[in-house]
Amino acid sequence: MTTILHLDASARSTRSLSRRLSALFVDSWLGHSPGDRVIRRDLAETPPPHVSEAWIAASFTAPEQRDAAMREALTWSDAALAELEAADLIVLGTPMYNYGMPSALKAWFDQVIRIGRAFSFDLARGDYPIEPMLGGKHLVVLSGRGEFGFAPGGIRESLNQLDPHLATCAGYIGVAPEAIHTIAIEYQEFGGERHARSIAAAEAKAIALAAELNRACEPVG
Ligand SMILES: Cc1cc2nc3c(=O)[nH]c(=O)nc-3n(C[C@H](O)[C@H](O)[C@H](O)COP(=O)(O)O)c2cc1C
Repeated sequence: MTTILHLDASARSTRSLSRRLSALFVDSWLGHSPGDRVIRRDLAETPPPHVSEAWIAASFTAPEQRDAAMREALTWSDAALAELEAADLIVLGTPMYNYGMPSALKAWFDQVIRIGRAFSFDLARGDYPIEPMLGGKHLVVLSGRGEFGFAPGGIRESLNQLDPHLATCAGYIGVAPEAIHTIAIEYQEFGGERHARSIAAAEAKAIALAAELNRACEPVG
């Protein structure tokens, strides 16, 4: 059984393209494997708290030395980490905001990329003391963008702070570079034929990717 962590980060509810695409992916997946488990977290509806001084102090204190206030400061992070650790596949619906990720999604990464849970830190490793602790997960990014040309070779590739940042963070939530799958709807702010074609292409890709990854995750035998 595959466990899917389904995240959405768009502030838009019914009109969101990224939500529509992430729902399409998850529905397609469940069409192949109806018994799989889906953990749902809506990062826009219920935004993660920002990390605080108390959170940082608690996370850098050894678990057995944390007092009640410290444990309380890490409650949200503990719950989100338990969901992440359980997940084989992370399905992320996210808009591009100001060429990067929405702040609610950044807050989620800050909550889950935590010392002792997502990475270890040891100065004995020299200039690269941080080592990821999680692995073996896939990340499917279903995105909406108002402009266009953010893919490699596109006219706005250099403005794209969303995909490179997601790729960097992915390494700390157990996702290797080759396990990141990105599908984007573009031209939302332009509308018209190009936008319609972008929606249709992204939806077809999402359905095909769900089938392909589902086959890859099927137990052999
Ligand atoms: C606050 C905000 C910032 C945005 N910044 C960008 C941007 O930098 N580049 C871009 O192409 N579109 C930008 N857009 C447009 C969104 O990416 C586009 O509307 C997308 O479809 C939003 O995803 P959604 O449909 O899932 O809500 C922005 C929209 C908002 C509301």
